[in-house]
Amino acid sequence: MAEVYTIKMPKLSDTMTEGTVVTWEKQVGEQIARGTVVATVETDKAIMDVEIFRVGYLSGPLAPVGAVVPVGGAIAYLVADVKEVKGGEAAAAPAERRKSERVAETEPHKFEPYGTPKAKTHIPAMPHGATPAPRPRTGLASPYARQLAGAHGIDIHSLKGSGPGGMILAADVTAPMAPPGMAKRIYQVPGIGRPMDAMEKAVAHNMEYSLSMPLFRVTVSISPDRLSAAAKKEGYSLTVALAKAAGLTIQKFPRVNAVYQHEDRIVERKQIDVGLAVETEGMGLVVPVLRDVMSKGLRQLNDEWKDLVARARIKRLKPQEYSNPTFTISNMGMLGVTNFDAIPSPGTSAIFAISTAGPQGMPVTITADHRIVNGADAAKFLNTFKQFVEQPESWISGGAAALSVASGREAIVQGKWDYDVVIIGGGPGGEDCARDLADHGKKVLMVNDAPFPGGECLWRGCIPSKAWRAGADRMRDRAHDAHLGVLNTDKPKLDWKLLEKTRRHVLETRGELALKTNKGMKIEVRQGFAYFDSANSVVIDASGNQNDPHARPARGKGGKTERVTFGACVIATGAPPWVPPIPGADSKGVLTSDTVWNLKTPPKKLGIIGAGAIGLEMAQIFADFGVQVLTLEARDRPLVEVETEIAKNLAELLAKKQKNLKLIISAKIDKISGKPGAMLIAYSDASGKKAAFKCDYVLVATGKRPVLEPLALDKAGVKSDNGVVTVDRQCRTNVPHIFAVGDVNGGYMLAHTAGHQGRVSAATMLGEKAEYNQDKDCGVIFTRPQAAFVGLSVEQAKARGIDAVEVKMPMNIDAKAMITDETDGLIKLVADKATRRIVGVHFLADHADTLIGEAVMMVSGDMTLEQVAQAIHPHPTQTEMFGEMARRLLSRLRRTQKIAK
Ligand code: NAI
Repeated sequence: MAEVYTIKMPKLSDTMTEGTVVTWEKQVGEQIARGTVVATVETDKAIMDVEIFRVGYLSGPLAPVGAVVPVGGAIAYLVADVKEVKGGEAAAAPAERRKSERVAETEPHKFEPYGTPKAKTHIPAMPHGATPAPRPRTGLASPYARQLAGAHGIDIHSLKGSGPGGMILAADVTAPMAPPGMAKRIYQVPGIGRPMDAMEKAVAHNMEYSLSMPLFRVTVSISPDRLSAAAKKEGYSLTVALAKAAGLTIQKFPRVNAVYQHEDRIVERKQIDVGLAVETEGMGLVVPVLRDVMSKGLRQLNDEWKDLVARARIKRLKPQEYSNPTFTISNMGMLGVTNFDAIPSPGTSAIFAISTAGPQGMPVTITADHRIVNGADAAKFLNTFKQFVEQPESWISGGAAALSVASGREAIVQGKWDYDVVIIGGGPGGEDCARDLADHGKKVLMVNDAPFPGGECLWRGCIPSKAWRAGADRMRDRAHDAHLGVLNTDKPKLDWKLLEKTRRHVLETRGELALKTNKGMKIEVRQGFAYFDSANSVVIDASGNQNDPHARPARGKGGKTERVTFGACVIATGAPPWVPPIPGADSKGVLTSDTVWNLKTPPKKLGIIGAGAIGLEMAQIFADFGVQVLTLEARDRPLVEVETEIAKNLAELLAKKQKNLKLIISAKIDKISGKPGAMLIAYSDASGKKAAFKCDYVLVATGKRPVLEPLALDKAGVKSDNGVVTVDRQCRTNVPHIFAVGDVNGGYMLAHTAGHQGRVSAATMLGEKAEYNQDKDCGVIFTRPQAAFVGLSVEQAKARGIDAVEVKMPMNIDAKAMITDETDGLIKLVADKATRRIVGVHFLADHADTLIGEAVMMVSGDMTLEQVAQAIHPHPTQTEMFGEMARRLLSRLRRTQKIAK
């Protein structure tokens, strides 16, 4: 018989017991690849994907859209052979029958798509944060029965089990003869009623559970004006500012953050997670949770909040984003109510109800669980909250920085350590950080796994590639000489050995100079591989393979190791090239941006996989050297980090004008084979047509990924997500005295980004005000013409709620560009219509690497169109284009405003 795999309703959260089928993303009979999303289902508050991790054909009967299926119940089938596919929809079990009959506990959740549906017990949704009831003193109880009993406050010892050997089952907890609890509260009302949806059920059961809390209420009136003004000035939502004020208050009264646990226990919690009730149109009340409010700056919280609300409104929150707050705020003041109180949700002990401000101020009511919070404490708690709200200047000014100033003093943990700060990694991030700290008199150790500092930027990235680019520029520019009447220069010849000599000389000189400067600044530099031993110590292994900077240290193999302790630490370990699992990608003829530097001579033909910054820079360098290059890109555009029109124009220019270089987008690499000097890339193009390219070498430039495992982050409790170390705007990890800067934290993998983050982390450790804001970061891709950006594109600005407009100028109208025959490309300027602030500038232009300097100052200095329009730019230079664009956009805005009036 053919193999049939049952696609079951997945358990998408701890609390999920059933789900509603929302859509079918695939049709019956469609072929399913590993990782395909076949359907979406609604859990208690979010719509989530059902992803399949095997191959086959989707087969019916399908659970119909709208069907409520218990976790583990079948929603469809997957068959290996297309001939086995069955059609049709499964009939859902009638609700009444499901309620009235019982099934064995071992099979309570089956949705039965074939034939007559088996009846089943209706098991209610589990309130969030519920704690299971204890094991019964005599006999057994199923885990689910214990959970239900705990969640609904039912004394499990009083129940009689109907399962094997008298085991108490979930059905016994919900049975009508069960002792007081939810099962008894049945009132007959006229009418048939409709089943509640998942969200309605979750709210109802939560509220029922909350009735078991002995609640009391205390109210004070607070003047919110200063907080409201301060939040507005910094661009934060008042709700977020109130959450932060609540967090500051809870820090002083941690008992409010504790919760009663059945029976007679208190769970105390350090982390403050504030749930904020939001009314969503047509979808009822949702409570997204701002996690760990005290470890984050207001700016970060504000960004997180915007994202949460936007997704809550379209029901795209993940369960972990709206469950288990430790404190809740309901701000119905926004709806104009003058007084109300709220009910704490299960898992919390208190809730704030904030009403609209009147002449007496803004009434704030705390409703609290008297088992945890007493009346006097609640009063003190409210008065402290009042102080934070009415005197916000002490904590809100400077936005996120206020937090870093406050906690920055503690970022270097006080103690008798070997070093104040240990920095792991000697690239631009680690080095800039080390120098700033040493400059402030801190005792700093920099551990680097290479003999000289500089990292990837100096040895395998920015600097050597720009040496090659400079040689390629000289050759390419000769072609323009005739335009200016200079003849006989258009047949340049490349001497690879001389170019390589210059490249090596630059690297070695700069590496030696940097090491000397570091030592001169009294930074202690140690060669070795450092990994965590605890949250305040690393082990330095000097026995690793020094030729492979990311080799795992040979622990326990007789290598020399040393343990050092620190008050703070910075992870600045970068990210090596990532090679996708393409068959043959491990061949000797495959190069990466780490190994391309070993070429003894330029190849005659080069295949490049990936048209990102590395792929395109290298493609053009080698094409300008006379190498035949084919670049294959998986996406439908090159340079994913660059503004869309700029990237598209560059791709068109390459197709039209660049000799020796072909770029194929939407390509799929099937296989790489051969040996150095005789390689073959087999690929398919966008239409699926198969082709092959013969070349001497293949350069794989498909991105970079940090290697975290050897760092033993878990020993220090440092968290990572999706393969990168997660940090806040101060570059702080979840461990307050451990920072991560540069490529390892997964943002823009650019040297200047790493350097800036290194300085931000140093400032934060020193208790100063600093933050990294990616919206003001920049980049230059050294293609010809260069693609460059600073700040936001129109799309990015709009996604942040900015009403953005752009103005652009082609290079071919500029006099200087016409003289030098560098007329390809354009510059565009993006501004906020409301404030006239320039939020982004984008280039496809020769000399963008110099021109961008002025644009960086515009964006980082929050300059307005008026300021740039009025600046006196020197003539004849291309900087005049900035003034021209600003004036043109101002004129357009003036005219369109007049029309609007
Ligand atoms: P990237 O992420 O910029 O580009 C990689 C490209 O490879 C992407 O377009 C991706 O779609 C493509 N790709 C991935 N897998 C593929 C496959 N199997 N087949 C075909 N294409 C595939 O990464 P890149 O170029 O390796 O650079 C790494 C980092 O270094 C980036 O963050 C980049 O910004 C940075 N960098 C910056 C430079 C600059 O600013 N001048 C110069 C060089 C690198």
